[in-house]
Amino acid sequence: MRRKLVAGNWKMHGNLVTNKQLLDEVINGLQGSRDADYAVCVPYPYLPSVKSSLQNSNIAWGAQNVSQHEKGAYTGEISASMLNDFECRYVIVGHSERRALYGESSLIVAEKYLAAQKSGIIPILCVGETLEQRESGVTERIIEEQLTAVINLSGVESLQKAVIAYEPVWAIGTGKTATPQQAQDVHTFIRSVISKLDSNTAKELIILYGGSVKANNAAELFVMPDIDGGLIGGASLVASDFVAICQAMQN
Ligand code: 13P
Repeated sequence: MRRKLVAGNWKMHGNLVTNKQLLDEVINGLQGSRDADYAVCVPYPYLPSVKSSLQNSNIAWGAQNVSQHEKGAYTGEISASMLNDFECRYVIVGHSERRALYGESSLIVAEKYLAAQKSGIIPILCVGETLEQRESGVTERIIEEQLTAVINLSGVESLQKAVIAYEPVWAIGTGKTATPQQAQDVHTFIRSVISKLDSNTAKELIILYGGSVKANNAAELFVMPDIDGGLIGGASLVASDFVAICQAMQN
């Protein structure tokens, strides 16, 4: 049985005061919920305060990026062992914003995934196509290429200690959600790519959907058989919305 997961990606939002208010409300709203796993991936500087807010709750925390290097002269970078110092359970790797705005290739993303796992942190590997790629019919090829880079470097079994998030780039922050069937089709495809190599890993793999998941569309997405939860951007910044999305996962 795959465990369900709802993770918030705060991106570059928040401050000490608003984070505390947001988390207090989310902790309260999710108190006692054990049917799924919950997490928030926060900006680096807030890891200590987020950890202290969440450590006695049912909500895990993580980061949004990690260096592929263990240590060294990499000004401005953060290593996986540093994230470990703050007990991050998850780290997002390969978010489309990192791929597009910071030039992260699938190889770099694969190296980051490996670095996270070496430190015992669960990578949330984002994959997804742009609108142009979808319209030109290459969605599956793009996603397979993004997955293959990771499998080549870390092996297919590594996915037993990872989460995949399918995030169509055209649905991120646009208010345009993939239909439940569109998302389900890509999730099935992802599982089939993995299944050709290792059917057990494919069966157990947690695949989240991300891209304009809101309180009013979460339930119809989460009911699909291959959607195991969500990676939530904008709506994770509003406590009542994030809690409602988490509750949609339980129902
Ligand atoms: P939105 O939910 O704001 O569309 O963002 C999705 C996302 O990028 C999560 O990583």
